[in-house]
Amino acid sequence: MANNSEQIEIWNGDIGQRWTEEQALLDAMLAPLGLAGLERADITPGTRVLDIGCGCGDTSLAIAEQVGADGHITGIDISEPMLARAQARAEGRKNLTFQKADATTHRFAPASADLIFSRFGVMFFDDPVAAFSNMRGALTPEGRLCNVVWRPVRENPWVLKSLMVAAEHVQMPQPAGPEDPGPFSFGEPERVERILGAAGFDNIALEPLDAKITVGAGLGLSDAVTFLLGIGPLRLILAEQDDATQNRVRDAVTEAVKSDFDTDGLQMDAAIWIVTAQSK
Ligand SMILES: C[S@@+](CC[C@H](N)C(=O)[O-])C[C@H]1O[C@@H](n2cnc3c(N)ncnc32)[C@H](O)[C@@H]1O
Repeated sequence: MANNSEQIEIWNGDIGQRWTEEQALLDAMLAPLGLAGLERADITPGTRVLDIGCGCGDTSLAIAEQVGADGHITGIDISEPMLARAQARAEGRKNLTFQKADATTHRFAPASADLIFSRFGVMFFDDPVAAFSNMRGALTPEGRLCNVVWRPVRENPWVLKSLMVAAEHVQMPQPAGPEDPGPFSFGEPERVERILGAAGFDNIALEPLDAKITVGAGLGLSDAVTFLLGIGPLRLILAEQDDATQNRVRDAVTEAVKSDFDTDGLQMDAAIWIVTAQSK
C-alpha cells in the first residue's frame, strides 16, 4: 500500500530509536556528506528552506545558521523519537521549526519555500512521484531542490564490505526491488530523473561525490564494528541469528574492516549523488 506505513513503523520503532541514541556518531559520519550538499545548495540569508526527513536535526541546525533571522527552516519528519531529539537541540532558535509530518501527504503552504533540502531523507517513499509532486507545491515558481542520496550499495564499501562477509555465514534476504523504498533506492540516475521529471522538476542534475566517512568516530575497533553492524541493513538480519552466528559474522566483519581502522574509528569509502533540480 502506498501510504508509507512500513517506513513510519520503522522510523518510530527500533531503527528510529537507534538513530536517536547514536545521533552524535551518525552526525559525525554523515556531516561531510551533508556539508557537500549544503555547499552545492548555496543557501543565502533570507532563504526559506524545507529539510525533508530531517531526523535528529543536524542539517536543519546548520541551515538555520545560514538563513539567518530573515530566513526560515522547517524540518519535516515522521519519526517521533528523532524529532524529539531535533527539538531539544534547537531550543531557543526562532528561525527553525520541526514538524511531524509525512512529506507525501502533508499540506504544505503553497509557494512558501525557496528550497527543498535533504540529507538521506527522501529515499523512503512508497510513491516517490506523489511525494515530490506534493513537496513541489510548497516551492515558489523559482524554487529549487538539493538532495543528498546514496549511490548504489556496490559503490559504497562502508556497507558492502560487511554485507558480503555476512553472506558467507547467513542466509541473506532477497535484495530490495528497484522500485522499493530504502536507503539505496535513489542509486540509479535514470530512476531519480524519471521520478523528479514526473513530479514537475526540470534542470535535473546528479553530481557524484566520493568521500571517506568516519564510522564510529573516536571508538576502538570493536566498538566501531558494533556501531557499523547496528546502523546498516545487517542490523535486522543479525537480530534473527543465534549468538554463535552473530559472533562469527562479527569476527569476520572485524577482520574485513580492520585495515580501515585508525585512531578515529573506521575510515571507509562512501559514494553519494548530490541531486539538484528546479521547479518547472
Ligand atoms: C536515513 S534518515 C536521515 C535523517 C537525517 N536527515 C540525517 O541525515 O541524519 C531518514 C529520515 O527520513 C525520515 N522519513 C522517512 N520517510 C519519510 C516521510 N514519508 N516523510 C518525512 N520523513 C520521512 C525518517 O524518519 C528518517 O528520519
